[in-house]
Amino acid sequence: MSTLVTDSGDQNPGQPDWEAAETLAIRGGRPLRGTVEVKGAKNLVTKAMVAALLGETTSTLRDVPMISDVKVVRSLLEVHGVTVTEGDEEGTLHLDPSGAVAAHFEEIDAHAGASRIPILFCGPLLHLLGEALIPDLGGCRIGDRPINFHMDALRAFGAVVDKSYEGIRITAPNGLHGANITLPYPSVGATEQVLLTAVRAKGVTELRNAAIEPEIMDLIAVLQKMGAIISYEPNRVIFIEGVDKLVGYDHRAIFDRNEAASWACAALATDGEIFAKGARQQDMLTFLNVFRKAGGWFDVREDGILFRRGEALKPVMVETDVHPGFMTDWQQPLIVALTQAPGTSTVHETVYENRLGFTEALNKMGADIVVHPKGISSPDRRVPRRDLEQAAVINGPTPLHGADVEVPDLRGGYSYVIAALAAEGESTVRNIGIIRRGYEKFLEKLTALDADFDVVG
Ligand code: EPU
Repeated sequence: MSTLVTDSGDQNPGQPDWEAAETLAIRGGRPLRGTVEVKGAKNLVTKAMVAALLGETTSTLRDVPMISDVKVVRSLLEVHGVTVTEGDEEGTLHLDPSGAVAAHFEEIDAHAGASRIPILFCGPLLHLLGEALIPDLGGCRIGDRPINFHMDALRAFGAVVDKSYEGIRITAPNGLHGANITLPYPSVGATEQVLLTAVRAKGVTELRNAAIEPEIMDLIAVLQKMGAIISYEPNRVIFIEGVDKLVGYDHRAIFDRNEAASWACAALATDGEIFAKGARQQDMLTFLNVFRKAGGWFDVREDGILFRRGEALKPVMVETDVHPGFMTDWQQPLIVALTQAPGTSTVHETVYENRLGFTEALNKMGADIVVHPKGISSPDRRVPRRDLEQAAVINGPTPLHGADVEVPDLRGGYSYVIAALAAEGESTVRNIGIIRRGYEKFLEKLTALDADFDVVG
């Protein structure tokens, strides 16, 4: 059994530091059972923190998960002169932008770590200081992850983009004005870029082909609290009327539906039962449909959703997509569960061009997954969506056995831990630090679910 950690993160004397853990020895074959609390969404919280730069007064953000991506954004804000303090209620941050200042490439680079968040500082910094710097960006290695939509949008607002050996320097010599922008693809980050820039630009911005993920709607709610005027129409159109002044907000973040879906799949894969406290049905409709079709059972309650297997696991055909489709961040833990379903499942990844590489390690653990780098055609499918799509064909059921695996990225890493917990025997899972980017108190939650593991490095 694993050792217990207190709320403050202090571990028992003599035990390894869970916040620094990099390698786990996991003994599988035991169902995960219990309750996990799902806090604010990583993909909203980090953006709402950046939005605080736009206000003239202090913002308060609640239900902030203490994940490493939040720490990165916090230190990037601090480098730019924002004072960040913790509130009395756990997970509350106060963000005071009154001392905002420019930062140097080296400072931004040193604090950005592997995060892609610096790119979203552009609009707010251009309004505040007339200049934004972006060093080379990180993020999960799941494809090329270009930033052309972001740069094109900023240029449409009147920004000037200069590339140098240090990174990208963006200025707005004549200020920023509203723009008509049509995104080539409903990119989450580019939509956020436009929102964070347009709210203080002069005039009206019309954004077409926008992403409409629930986290984006929550960011719009944050900006509206700050004084922004934003409306939207069907068919992915968002209008933003620029205003002269924004103030701080007080906001409780939307729950992390990616984390809730991850734990749901963990219950499915290990034949356990997990209550995801804080999960809400409305924002997970698409996931719940697929979960049910794959043989999952769920019960929507006032304060969360209970997940377990139903009668038997079943193979499914899934295509990832932008919201309201099946999120690309949900396929990795689902694939682990599908290795245990009798029959052939197909998962098409259409959002990123390299997000099925993680399945190699699942094969090492006994799975039978074949990746088709250009996707596959099938009469059951609608037309292929993008040139870059790939498909994983999963033949099950295949018993999983322990193996030595290394975490490649956030969601892939989570799926390795779940696979190891579903497998017979002991696995070594290395490089688990990446999982802390998106899952708060990960080892503590595994312990609460009765997982059998030790930190070995
Ligand atoms: N794209 C471009 N050019 C751009 C921007 C995006 O070609 O300038 C392409 C990407 O390469 C990709 C597609 O557009 O093929 C979608 O990318 P998007 O911009 O929507 O993704 P993102 O904003 O970089 C966010 C989340 C991801 C999540 C995606 C999709 C954050 C910090 N990250 O990324 O989260 O998978 O949206 O929903 O919000 C994760 O949580 O594990 C994660 C990777």
